[in-house]
Amino acid sequence: MGRFDDIHARSLTDPEGFWGEAAEAIHWDRKWDKVLDESRPPFYRWFSGGILNTCHNALDRHVENGRADQAALIYDSPVTDTVESYTYRELRDTVARCAGALAAQGVVKGDRVIVYMPMIPQAAIAMLACARLGAIHSVVFGGFAANELATRIDDAKPKMILSASCGVEVNRVIPYKPLLDAAIELAAHKPAHCLILQRPMEKAAMTAGRDLDWDQALAAARPHDCVPVAATDPLYILYTSGTTGEPKGIVRDNGGHAVALKWSMKNIYNVDPGEVYWAASDVGWVVGHSYIVYAPLLHGCTTVMYEGKPVGTPDPGAFWRVISQHKIGTMFTAPTAFRAIRQQDPGGEFMSKYDLSKFRTLFLAGERCDPDTLHWAQEKLKVPVIDHWWQTETGWSIASNCLGIEELPVKAGSPTRGVPGWDLRVLDAQGEEVAPGKIGAIAGKLPMPPGCAPTLWNAEDRFHQSYLASFPGYYETGDAGYIDDNGYVYVMARTDDIINIAGHRLSTGAMEEVLASHPDVAECAVIGVQDQLKGQLPVGFLVLSAGVDKAGAEIVKEVVQLVRDKIGPVAAFKAAAVVKRLPKTRSGKILRATMRAIADSEPYKTPATIDDPAILNEIADSLKSIGYAKGT
Ligand code: COA
Ligand code: AMP
Repeated sequence: MGRFDDIHARSLTDPEGFWGEAAEAIHWDRKWDKVLDESRPPFYRWFSGGILNTCHNALDRHVENGRADQAALIYDSPVTDTVESYTYRELRDTVARCAGALAAQGVVKGDRVIVYMPMIPQAAIAMLACARLGAIHSVVFGGFAANELATRIDDAKPKMILSASCGVEVNRVIPYKPLLDAAIELAAHKPAHCLILQRPMEKAAMTAGRDLDWDQALAAARPHDCVPVAATDPLYILYTSGTTGEPKGIVRDNGGHAVALKWSMKNIYNVDPGEVYWAASDVGWVVGHSYIVYAPLLHGCTTVMYEGKPVGTPDPGAFWRVISQHKIGTMFTAPTAFRAIRQQDPGGEFMSKYDLSKFRTLFLAGERCDPDTLHWAQEKLKVPVIDHWWQTETGWSIASNCLGIEELPVKAGSPTRGVPGWDLRVLDAQGEEVAPGKIGAIAGKLPMPPGCAPTLWNAEDRFHQSYLASFPGYYETGDAGYIDDNGYVYVMARTDDIINIAGHRLSTGAMEEVLASHPDVAECAVIGVQDQLKGQLPVGFLVLSAGVDKAGAEIVKEVVQLVRDKIGPVAAFKAAAVVKRLPKTRSGKILRATMRAIADSEPYKTPATIDDPAILNEIADSLKSIGYAKGT
């Protein structure tokens, strides 16, 4: 057995010893009573009785222990031509002021605060300020529309919302404030106040009595100290796509999260305190929460916030420029970013323009890493390229090559093995374990390790139903795949209607709800089809109501706009076809998997239960007519 095997085995046979030792790396105001609280299975809690503050561990602790003048955060924004750096002391002081500004408006421990911000330092400052007060932040990604924001406002019921006047996309300023105003208008719950950062590119109109100016409020605020919270108190809620239009409010606790993320920095990423670490994601996603904000700071690293894209800001050398300029050793991004770079710079010429000598490892996650992309990145960068698999629910890796423990051979298409704390099994529909190499539902034996969601916000039954009910004793990941003879995991597809667009998780069910709301649409289906750049793209099928005389193309245009307005541009919903009927089983179930196979030119068997096989040809023709299917 190698070192990895030993450590992994110990994490499962002695979880309390294993995570108890890892927890020594965190500062506790009061140590836990129990490392693993098993009093209410299948719900498990970590570090019950422990008291700590996550912001103290991320900032104050380092200021007090010799890192005060080290850069904590570098803001690199090619879209605004800005590079700025905050030392640990500066970041701690600004966060303390921001916490003071929130406290001045009555925000206290346990209150919810929504953060709707672009990739600017103030987004991280807002999150850490909430953590400082023990308030629960809920960051909403900027690419979501007002309606999605409103749903989250109504579920989280925030006392305050923190936002900025605008985001800056490639060559385009996106005003955020009108979206925020519309969302508050739509929502039943009204926040008491909004704290708005006025960016120079766009001045937001302020609502008197409700909206406060960020700069003024922080200037007037008294710095606030860290408020001790229970290890099991929520640090944040992060909404993610479920199988319906109703997003799931993933809850993260304070104690298990801090322990797991700190542990992961050395053991998974092999990064030491003081190094520069860059996750090119967005604070609106879990990768941004864990690896732009919390983990690098808990570990005493310098983190990079990049407001730009892999291409177009200004060219496919953008990532290499950032890596060389900030002397980055380890980077984390989504395979789609590499596909975008490769598309524009297949020979990797832009790489040779920069000094990448400090660069050691590339980590990829967010979607399946296709072997082509992996090989291209390996060949061009000449450093280990590590695919790792995780989810909003888990907050950190489920499977990875743990470089700080033992570098295992890379197998293309596999994120390597279950990390310490995860006992992964592949199950059939009856919950029986299948043989190595056979596909099934990937599940993890309970308890999940620290840092994973203990519940959904105000929805414990839904948590149980969504993740714990199908396979008693296991967490159901929602991913299908197999494990080979050497324990390598292969994550192949979702078992539900979630699709992955450019590393972003979206629900086709939610898109169907929007299409169905169009007055001329009688029935509809949305499937995710393969896309060379974004991995998957949504395609809609519309059956129109009898008697509709509007042109199909007009209705398609309207539903495309409707999805953009209701869900947001991030859904990338741009294609739909009007069809006479949808393929269904005799019992009325829409055959989405068969439609997907047609679109992706994959072999499929006409289902025996189909009510009319001829419809499949119509589907193939309609996909061809909108430029999707290659054949049947
Ligand atoms: N605020 C407002 N709008 C946003 C936004 C934000 N924060 N982020 C994205 N959008 C908009 C974009 O402008 C685009 O709008 P458009 O339809 O008008 O062009 C749409 O949402 C889709 O955006 P995006 O997914 O970024 O696609 P793109 O075509 O602009 O760029 C990639 C393609 C591959 C370069 C880009 O998706 C990328 O960098 N992906 C990396 C993904 C990632 O970091 N995932 C996180 C998990 S690790
Ligand atoms: P999210 O919750 O947005 O992080 O999305 C999680 C989902 O993305 C997972 O359930 C997988 O379907 C997919 N995913 C993330 N990382 C990987 C990976 N390395 N390989 C395969 N799929 C992945």
